[in-house]
Amino acid sequence: MQTITTVAELRCALTEHRRADKRIGFVPTMGYLHDGHLALIEASRAQCDVTVVSIFVNPTQFGPNEDLSTYPRDFQRDEKLCRDAGVAIVFAPASQEIYPDRFETFVEPGELAKPLCGAFRPGHFRGVATVVCKLFNMVQPDVAFFGQKDFQQCAVVRRMAIDLNLLIKIVIVPTVREAGRLAMSSRNRYLNGEDQRRALAISRGLFAAAEEFALGERNVDKLIAIAKRHLETVDQLQYLELVDCDTLKPAVSPLHRAAALCVGAYVGATRLIDNVILQPTP
Ligand code: PAF
Repeated sequence: MQTITTVAELRCALTEHRRADKRIGFVPTMGYLHDGHLALIEASRAQCDVTVVSIFVNPTQFGPNEDLSTYPRDFQRDEKLCRDAGVAIVFAPASQEIYPDRFETFVEPGELAKPLCGAFRPGHFRGVATVVCKLFNMVQPDVAFFGQKDFQQCAVVRRMAIDLNLLIKIVIVPTVREAGRLAMSSRNRYLNGEDQRRALAISRGLFAAAEEFALGERNVDKLIAIAKRHLETVDQLQYLELVDCDTLKPAVSPLHRAAALCVGAYVGATRLIDNVILQPTP
């Protein structure tokens, strides 16, 4: 496995693989890897010849009062996990490599970035879209892999790839969950024992609604109410919404199109997000 820190070196290493007609898979991350990231790497290894993982804590997607400076980092551990998982290249640029002096050009997503997390994290998806677009241009992968936990991010990136004619297939990999079904996230490490227990309310609420949906419930308000009953133990429920999977606009009763039940909530000082997809059978 190669660890590369500059775009010039990355281009050079990838040229070799491209000449050999290798299919390049890309897993963008902010490091502090967990089993969710490893599932993305595994999917890439299954579908591509060469897997590139980027590790970059992207400053432009953090708001002024968010956890950029304390975001968990452990590069050596990440490198080992990547090596053991069969990654070919770890791309770990310094901030200056991505955002050189006088940087001023951003990718501005549209309506998809406005609801859900976008309503509470102004500028977040602009930062995500910008860095993902830049990383796509640097790596030029055939396929890129994202986790379903970041449902809105997936929608924004998929739209960006279409709108900007990026010839990259976007693959969404199902959320990996800890015991108790808490969605894996690098931020879970902030949770103490008691917070961990209370955080389980999120997946409990989502799955309770999904079970009622499987039993035939198609009323949007009722499905939301079922999930909400479980969410009383979280400290601040930012949003609990059932949205259309394509538009992210509020889903309409009776549900007959794929919809995502999405939660953003604080448990203690930790902001967690999760979702389940409700897919009506034709
Ligand atoms: O999902 C993440 O870890 C980040 O938002 C991403 C896609 C790596 C961009 O910084």
